[in-house]
Amino acid sequence: MGILICPVCREKLGISGKTYTCANRHSFDIARSGYVNLLLSKHTGKTVHGDNKIMVQARRDFLEKGYYSPLRESLCENVQEGVILDAGCGEGYYTNGILNALPNAEIYGIDISKTAVDMASKRTKKITFATASVFNIPVADSSVDTLVTIFSPYCSAEFLRVLKINGIMIMAIPSENHLLELKQAVYDTPYKNKVKPYELDGFGLVSKKRITYNFTLESNKDIQSLFSMTPYFYRTNYTQSKKLAELENLTTTADFELLIYRKF
Ligand SMILES: C[S@@+](CC[C@H](N)C(=O)[O-])C[C@H]1O[C@@H](n2cnc3c(N)ncnc32)[C@H](O)[C@@H]1O
Ligand SMILES: [Zn+2]
Repeated sequence: MGILICPVCREKLGISGKTYTCANRHSFDIARSGYVNLLLSKHTGKTVHGDNKIMVQARRDFLEKGYYSPLRESLCENVQEGVILDAGCGEGYYTNGILNALPNAEIYGIDISKTAVDMASKRTKKITFATASVFNIPVADSSVDTLVTIFSPYCSAEFLRVLKINGIMIMAIPSENHLLELKQAVYDTPYKNKVKPYELDGFGLVSKKRITYNFTLESNKDIQSLFSMTPYFYRTNYTQSKKLAELENLTTTADFELLIYRKF
């Protein structure tokens, strides 16, 4: 039995044929690639549709080259059997890593970007992917053993609602020096990232691990892919873009924190 609920009336969803339906006969078709659209227009808010096609493709190209595989490996060492939800799963790089580590787990991935979820669901049919917002998660209360949030928006109320008591939340965030050399190559006065306090209401911090290493981008295409994945992408002027376009290779720092919380 799955954990998805109807975004209209919140009854459980079941599958019949290529459609998810609830007891009140609301129905949601499964797209050809395998995901289901559970995003109601009233839930999209100001974010509209999340990452666009260019950003999602850049993320796919970059991640598939393995630059962030140490983070994925660390994440996979910490996930446990049971029901796993990747909230803000993007094009599914980490979600698919979890499946490889735990082939028998019941895994779900949601993202507000249709393009991302469409690409993610083409990877495998063993994960249930849906378009949905982390601020209105279409899954039942207390149904998730492990919630994963990798560089995606955080919604305390919803994450606490869907997790079982003692459920685990695994969060990855960029740490201080993440991509510092990339920022130095583009900006005159690059800032280090500010890491927020670790305390989160309703959760206890179980462990934190810093993952820091250098990696070399061997082509301008990879540099551009990485840059377009960052929040700086839309804040860059002509001179800064030109500097970026002239870079042929770049060694930069990956600096992540993998935080593990338990719901009280
Ligand atoms: C930085 S990306 C991270 C994606 C993925 N976790 C990864 O690391 O490859 C942030 C993701 O959050 C998604 N997103 C933004 N707002 C969202 C929302 N309200 N609900 C769900 N996903 C959202 C974006 O579409 C994007 O895929
Ligand atoms: Zn319904």
